[in-house]
Amino acid sequence: EQMPLHVNINGTIRQLSIEPRVTLLDLLREQLHLTGTKKGCDHGQCGACTVHVDGARVNACLTLAMTTEGCQVTTIEGLTDGDRNRSGEPAASPATARLHPMQEAFIKHDGFQCGYCTPGQIMSAVACIREGHANSPDEIREYMSGNICRCGAYANIVDAIMDVKK
Ligand code: FES
Repeated sequence: EQMPLHVNINGTIRQLSIEPRVTLLDLLREQLHLTGTKKGCDHGQCGACTVHVDGARVNACLTLAMTTEGCQVTTIEGLTDGDRNRSGEPAASPATARLHPMQEAFIKHDGFQCGYCTPGQIMSAVACIREGHANSPDEIREYMSGNICRCGAYANIVDAIMDVKK
């Protein structure tokens, strides 16, 4: 049976009809086609599905979509108004679109190889600074420990976060 859900996703209020058992991850990826949020383990072990709900990071695979009623959900697609360029005009190409400073820092510091974990890493990294856990490389490593990178880009990810923090 479908239930109504009203949720603000990346600044747009959505009036949806969903099955109560659907996870936020499946809602985002399958119903809304916001596929920037990745499904790695689907069991809360990898962090690939990290998004923000009312500013706090959550694993979307462990969150029932129904629990986001009235909330504000931010995914990697909504981290910045990324389809616009620096003067606020619609960007002619992805190459001229604006990125969030954390996205720029991941590029500058090579904070990824295959890129699959990157949206989740970046959502966690933004929360790491926002929540005040970026005061040292050790503190960052601790906060980011739920985000697994099979390519082992950890050192560069910490460098990127330290760079944005300063
Ligand atoms: Fe959610 Fe792995 S897909 S933690």
